[in-house]
Amino acid sequence: MKKATIIIPTYNEKDNIKSLVEGIFKNVSALPNWMVDVVIVDSDSPDGTTELVESLIPSFPHLHLIRTKKEGLGKAYIEGFKIAIEKLQPFVLFEMDADHSHDPTTLPAFLKQIEKGADFVIGSRYIKGGSIPQDWGIDRKIFSIGANLFVRLGFMRLKITDWTSGFRAIKAWIIKDSLAYVNTYSGYVFQVALLDHAISKGARVSEVPINFVDRKAGVSKINSIQYIFQTFWYVLSHSSFIKFIIVGLLGFVVDFSFAYAFINSLKIPKASANMLSAEVAIIFNFFINNFWSFRHKKIEGGFIAYAQKLLLFNLVSLGSVLIQGGGLYLLLTFMGDKIFALLPGVSLSSWIVYKIGIISFIIIPYSYVLYNKVVWKK
Ligand code: GDD
Ligand code: MN
Repeated sequence: MKKATIIIPTYNEKDNIKSLVEGIFKNVSALPNWMVDVVIVDSDSPDGTTELVESLIPSFPHLHLIRTKKEGLGKAYIEGFKIAIEKLQPFVLFEMDADHSHDPTTLPAFLKQIEKGADFVIGSRYIKGGSIPQDWGIDRKIFSIGANLFVRLGFMRLKITDWTSGFRAIKAWIIKDSLAYVNTYSGYVFQVALLDHAISKGARVSEVPINFVDRKAGVSKINSIQYIFQTFWYVLSHSSFIKFIIVGLLGFVVDFSFAYAFINSLKIPKASANMLSAEVAIIFNFFINNFWSFRHKKIEGGFIAYAQKLLLFNLVSLGSVLIQGGGLYLLLTFMGDKIFALLPGVSLSSWIVYKIGIISFIIIPYSYVLYNKVVWKK
């Protein structure tokens, strides 16, 4: 028998928690390979949730209560994880909401995935068989799908469809390994940080479909504005994408500075000077990307490996040059070579506008994907 512990954070869930606890034990007590404990982490709910859970404990020997101060969802989970690991020594821990949004009948499906070798199982609303509530307004649907897409693209992890789900099964070794890291994320963004860190530790992630339903009793505690901002910032500051953009801008500065120096100090002819400076910028970008933006998949294998990858990097850059040339040619031919008047007194030649468009919508995605999939392929 292996041990699984379900951590359920609660704040004012008195109308949900009793029926949820009953539902969970009904679905897991007959599992052949698993012994399941439930740990409620209540943050001093003023509505009587604490007392209600205490009154349930005599009828459920595997039900436990931890009482904490109200410091956010992340903090409640971290506290619950620490104590559960110390006292119960489970093999796997679950995260689950108390408000019936997460259906306990899907619990065995998570454990199946763990038995098959997964380290981190996500209950996903966005894979086949999963769903978000039909009665969500179009704005909420777009927001939820959009936010997940943003995280997936930012981290270049397209296979994980639900980054923000709060229904998960995670092996204890991952949690132990992650506690120090996630400690600073007290709110809902903790979910994204934990998954991101687990992946960096080599966790095998898999997903099971869930049908997320809206709560019927009580109210949501999420602070949407804060949550959106923190998630957005987390991705920007932790994804290689933003670093890649910064390196690209620096490369631009390097290119111009060297071209200027070559032409004015070394008296190299202008065309040759620009070819040289472009190559300097390419080499500069290659190394900064390797030791900063993509340092988690730094090139290994010594001089030969570096030389090969630098050559590949040059080929990708050559591709950018050709795309720019071809794109500009097409746009100038079919859209016309004219002057765009942006504001009174401010106008731009069309080629500058076209070039900015080509870089933003074609060159950046093109380079980022090829850097990830070819140059810094893991
Ligand atoms: N102990 C404690 N302390 N529990 C909390 C706190 C807190 O500060 N804040 C929220 N909770 C509990 C709630 O009582 C509930 O059981 C669970 O955490 C989820 O909170 P909800 O308020 O129901 O969140 P939601 O439904 O708006 O958010 C859903 O989407 C998020 C983002 O996708 C949930 O599924 C979250 O788990 C998910 O991260
Ligand atoms: Mn909820």
